Amino acid sequence: MAPDIEEIARRRGFFFRSSEIYGGMSGFYDYGPLGTLMKRKWEGLWKGFFLGLDENFYEIETADIMPEPVFVASGHVQSFVDPVVKCRKCGFAERADHILEDVLEEKFEGLSPQQLDEIIKKHNLKCPKCGGTLHEVGILNMMFPINVGVDKPAKAYLRPETAQGVYVNFPRAFEVMRKKLPLGMAIIGKAYRNEISPRNLLIRMREFTQAELQIFFNPKKIVKHSKFGEVKDYPLRIYSEEKKIRFTQEMPCSLVVEDQNLPEFYVYHMAKIQQFYLDILKIDPKKFRFRELSEEERAFYNKYHWDVELELSDGFREVGGIHYRTDHDLAGHQKVSKQDMSVFADGEKFVPHVLELSFGVDRNVFALMELSLKKDGERTIFSFPRLVSPYDVAVFPLVSKDKLPERSRKVFEMLKKNFVVFYDESGSIGRRYARQDEAGTPFCVTVDHQTLDDNTVTVRDRDTTKQARIAVDELAEKIAGMFSL
Ligand code: ATP
Ligand code: GLY
Repeated sequence: MAPDIEEIARRRGFFFRSSEIYGGMSGFYDYGPLGTLMKRKWEGLWKGFFLGLDENFYEIETADIMPEPVFVASGHVQSFVDPVVKCRKCGFAERADHILEDVLEEKFEGLSPQQLDEIIKKHNLKCPKCGGTLHEVGILNMMFPINVGVDKPAKAYLRPETAQGVYVNFPRAFEVMRKKLPLGMAIIGKAYRNEISPRNLLIRMREFTQAELQIFFNPKKIVKHSKFGEVKDYPLRIYSEEKKIRFTQEMPCSLVVEDQNLPEFYVYHMAKIQQFYLDILKIDPKKFRFRELSEEERAFYNKYHWDVELELSDGFREVGGIHYRTDHDLAGHQKVSKQDMSVFADGEKFVPHVLELSFGVDRNVFALMELSLKKDGERTIFSFPRLVSPYDVAVFPLVSKDKLPERSRKVFEMLKKNFVVFYDESGSIGRRYARQDEAGTPFCVTVDHQTLDDNTVTVRDRDTTKQARIAVDELAEKIAGMFSL
């Protein structure tokens, strides 16, 4: 983890511990103005890209609190558990697989409590906090239970994933949206998990935002996708210990279908996810990969499960996943709610299957911050991809006199019509540039004495620090052009 990211994030108002004045609470973070701008931009790009994949894809909004039967049906009450180990001496609790990972530097996700216990005993592992002996590994459900109502309180949970909000709405949505498959429904919203050991800032939180798209389709059609031709030669970056692909390999989608035995419908959406990261978010391809999860690691509802990973300072990290959930959820809700979840389409009646594209917004925002943080001598720069930087442009008068502030305000008002703009006239011009470098603003516009003569301003590029003189009349158009590069 980049060492000073937390300090810069707090100082610049990207994010900081929630309820800070009371000492904060582990796993909860608030976003300040810069962080919120950036998060909304990421969400806007995600929405534009993934809802744009099909005319029958929509966004919905559903309740964060859902009644217990929802999670009995989905399997979360029984299976959404993590292995936990507690210290006999100091009471410190940690995920058993994480304790092993930290010491042995291997992955242990998905092993049973018994298996984890054996490895802990074999290596004689002790409490990482006080060196005390450890209890046997137990399991802990990660959902937050709550009671709703006063008279006869009903048991409910804060949703641990946005997905269930879509599934319980499926019959109504299918009815109102032309009874056509594939049907996609997305939610960008909060998810809540009582993580045993929240850590690494926005990577593992207890309340976080997910952006998830659920695509309902006819399972018989999974082998084809009508637009597969567009991506068949597109090279996917894949890594799979399962399949002995131990270095990230680029493999054309058509070969992924043949060699990896994955259906076109799945691989088409892998290609689209990769394009989102490489083309829209401008991630260096070398830092992106899909990683196949082993049978033990896979979420309990998935048949195919590849994670989307980005390489951060401490290695590849999951930021999303592509999950073939089959009819696991709809069949579960049909059984528990006794409501018919089947549809009549393509001349037959069936329960649709689901392909889920799931992303953690906070993890993605954090990953972009880590990947963009640069030091250049005294300068600290967030060289964010232009489309996600909190501000698009900053506007300054060179000095706060000689009518330059008035002129700058006019430029500011003009640019505000098309861009997210920050106005600053305090401190030296050098300090103002430095502040914007730390905020990741791609362009700084300075109004100087020459502006009064010829109506031109300087535009400074954050990454090169080069300045160009541009006529105010052409400024908006030229800046827009730079954003489309
Ligand atoms: P991990 O293995 O890191 O615990 P997960 O496999 O449980 O993550 P999923 O259940 O697949 O994660 O959740 C979908 C996405 O939600 C993840 O790819 C991640 O981006 C995000 N996410 C999951 N848990 C957290 C968390 N505790 N804090 C922040 N984001 C999270
Ligand atoms: N909806 C997928 C997940 O949260 O795991």
